[in-house]
Amino acid sequence: MRIGILGAGQLGQMMALAGYPLGNRFVFLDTSGSPSADIGTVVMDQAEQSLDQFLQQVDCVTYEFEHLPLSLVKAVEARKPLYPGSEAIRVCQNRAEEKALFTRLGIPVADYRLVSSAEELAAAAAELGGAQQIPVVAKSLTEGYDGKGQAVLRTPAEAVDAWNKIGHPELIVESFVDFVREVSMIAVRGRDAQVVFYPIAENHHSEGILRYSMAPLPDVSEQLQTVAEGYIHQLLDALDYVGVLTLELFQTRDGRLLANEMAPRVHNSGHWTQNGAVTSQFENHLRAVQGVPLGSTAPRGLTCMINIIGEHGDLSALLEIEGAHLHLYGKEERAGRKLGHVNLVADSYEELLASVERARALLPGAPEAQFSFI
Ligand SMILES: Nc1ncnc2c1ncn2[C@@H]1O[C@H](COP(=O)(O)OP(=O)(O)O)[C@@H](O)[C@H]1O
Ligand SMILES: [Mg+2]
Repeated sequence: MRIGILGAGQLGQMMALAGYPLGNRFVFLDTSGSPSADIGTVVMDQAEQSLDQFLQQVDCVTYEFEHLPLSLVKAVEARKPLYPGSEAIRVCQNRAEEKALFTRLGIPVADYRLVSSAEELAAAAAELGGAQQIPVVAKSLTEGYDGKGQAVLRTPAEAVDAWNKIGHPELIVESFVDFVREVSMIAVRGRDAQVVFYPIAENHHSEGILRYSMAPLPDVSEQLQTVAEGYIHQLLDALDYVGVLTLELFQTRDGRLLANEMAPRVHNSGHWTQNGAVTSQFENHLRAVQGVPLGSTAPRGLTCMINIIGEHGDLSALLEIEGAHLHLYGKEERAGRKLGHVNLVADSYEELLASVERARALLPGAPEAQFSFI
């Protein structure tokens, strides 16, 4: 099957790497002007003039990026099978739509308000902050990623600065969640509605960018895993979803899970599955999209994924670590840019943490990782 991918970055490239053994071939549609995928065929289309040329070469279409013009996505869907469908993109492009869907399905979220001026932002911060003056997080309704388009307000007096800094006409304002940790649940739904779930991963961010993901975890009870699976299953069914869906959650001190956001695609917090699960998220996404049985999501060891950000560091020393697997994206070094990741796989948490520590010392700017079970 010839698979078209909207977007031509590292996620698309890793899908293609997983799809070649399945006999798939890939055509990418790049609207950014700077594709990094270096496999298959890339159709450059900044002016939305080459859609025909792209569609002629593919049997079905998926995407690696949800911040695409909905008109483009709908034009694709009118002519080729598109998985996940455009409804998933429509919802995931807008934080208000996402939160409304979570709430409609009974999936708990932090308290929030929608605002469209600095004055409303100040009022929402005062109301949500309450007497204890809990901080709030303001986020642009659309287009945000990697912590961009966000500001934390400690008091309502910071509203004007935050409003100007974000520079977006509509914001969502959320109570700041005093979480124990951030986790993600990744699940895959096939065309026949079969669903498989990966074990929850614990995620650590630095400067808004994911740095570490670890899975499976020693301190995830069966009950917690089941609750997260229940939430994502409802989302998958409500959207009649096909492919990989990622749900980011906060775990609170009293052991509850609050949904933060979701992504209708393979996700950085699922890269550990390339070396740490029987079937990677990329392969399972492609299996779902082309309507063949999904693969086992069982872990093959204990894995920590570390993003390589900004500078490569000493990669050959990194490969000396037992159980280290390197995945580079072929990008030039630039501050804050995701250049690749390393998956460290081990048989015990003790070994895994020792490997993480060794890798961290070799990766410029990598912060200390405080996993919540330590
Ligand atoms: N309500 C919140 N309370 C506490 N921290 C938050 C809240 N919302 C976001 N964050 C922090 O900011 C990070 C990025 O926010 P997120 O909503 O996931 O946006 P992005 O699209 O940039 O990933 C989260 O991973 C989390 O660390
Ligand atoms: Mg996020």
